[in-house]
Amino acid sequence: MVQTERDRAGDAHGDGAMPAHVPPELAMPFDYRYASQIADDPWAYFAGFTGGPEIFWSPGLGGYWVPARAEIIGAIFQDVDRFSNGVVSIPPPPRPQSIPASLDPPEHTKYRKIISQRMFTPRALASLVDDIAAITDELLARAVPEGQCEFVADIARPLPVSLILRMLGMPGDVRARLTEWVRMIFHGNSVEEHLEGYRATFGFLGDWLREQLALDAHEGLVLPAFVEARIDGRPLTFEEMHSMSMLLIGAGVDTASSQLTHAMRYFAEHPEARERIVREPQTIPAAIEELLRRYGIANITRVVREDMVYRGVPMRKGDLVLLASALAGLDAGAFPDPMTVDFDRPGVKGVHRPFGAGPHICPGAYLARELLRNLMTRIVPRLGEVRIAPGAALPHASGITVSLKSLPLEWSGAGAG
Ligand code: HEM
Repeated sequence: MVQTERDRAGDAHGDGAMPAHVPPELAMPFDYRYASQIADDPWAYFAGFTGGPEIFWSPGLGGYWVPARAEIIGAIFQDVDRFSNGVVSIPPPPRPQSIPASLDPPEHTKYRKIISQRMFTPRALASLVDDIAAITDELLARAVPEGQCEFVADIARPLPVSLILRMLGMPGDVRARLTEWVRMIFHGNSVEEHLEGYRATFGFLGDWLREQLALDAHEGLVLPAFVEARIDGRPLTFEEMHSMSMLLIGAGVDTASSQLTHAMRYFAEHPEARERIVREPQTIPAAIEELLRRYGIANITRVVREDMVYRGVPMRKGDLVLLASALAGLDAGAFPDPMTVDFDRPGVKGVHRPFGAGPHICPGAYLARELLRNLMTRIVPRLGEVRIAPGAALPHASGITVSLKSLPLEWSGAGAG
């Protein structure tokens, strides 16, 4: 029998054991990965936990703390002295360290500088924004005349994959393979499929790196940054480069693809919002923030560094903590009537935490926002009278990201046949 990820999590970590230090009144079964309600509406499920204790303990998946207020989630993201990045998911992944995601300052800072200062320079970002437009035009040229598409497979996944390929300096013909491996890693139907996708991507990246490092000149943004970088005066090792390139794929594709899909679904179901962003493009920056808030996707992990009482809650060294952007974005104390999308809502940016905060704050946030802007300025207008295909099932899944597995669309846009 094929073992599912759920079986494995259950086997490996057990459910329901309550550690002695956890006050029983703080225990609430919040299954951020497998609760049955997630398939239909993950945000309704998450929102149901924002009105109880500020921080509670979920006994499933080995047990973990869950802060359920935007302000506390933001504070923990920044509190590197008390919360470590040493474990990157709940349950902990069967993988080597991920550089720099699983490192803490000061080690983290040395590697993070390579990304922030050598890869994502203002010039590089400007050229990537041009790439977003060009790749979108190519994908739309194929999809628009058809009058229908499966948005995830046809646009939302290939778009960030192509962008990462440009960053890596890889040829575009790798796109189909990499897109499929990323699907397997994040949405495989079994642990085996997930691991196969991971191994295929990791193996492919390793071979490619070896080949490229043997050359004198290097394409893209990533290789030149790796080759020039120094850590305590020494060059990066092969393993470090391998881990960092894998992280770009792991962190940049499924996140961007999921966020684009949720936003696209919203526009497919709300013609008045579609008309507004076309009629009043000045609304777009607020629309980007509001959709990031309403459809928070990132489920990030921290580890408690030392025994402590944090905001009245007794935490033990090694306890895991889940920082869910959906819980921050749907906190009714911070955002009244949180389930309603309101492009005129004040005070969203800086409170909703879609990209975290502090030293690990997402270095791809600018690109992610540009991808959403591109959806609103290029994709939505081109799809015209777009709607969800009648009778389409829209199953969600939750893990490190909250995503929609497929989004079948139909339209009668300017280019539709
Ligand atoms: C909507 C899309 C995205 C969302 C919601 C998102 C969310 C996040 C969050 C919440 C973190 C913080 C993790 C932590 O605190 O431990 C993060 C880190 C990271 N993200 Fe993103 N991300 C997105 C897109 C991207 C893109 C497009 C890229 C790259 C091209 C990227 C690369 C990274 C990397 C490398 C890290 C690790 C940074 C570090 O540990 O210092 N992300 N992302």
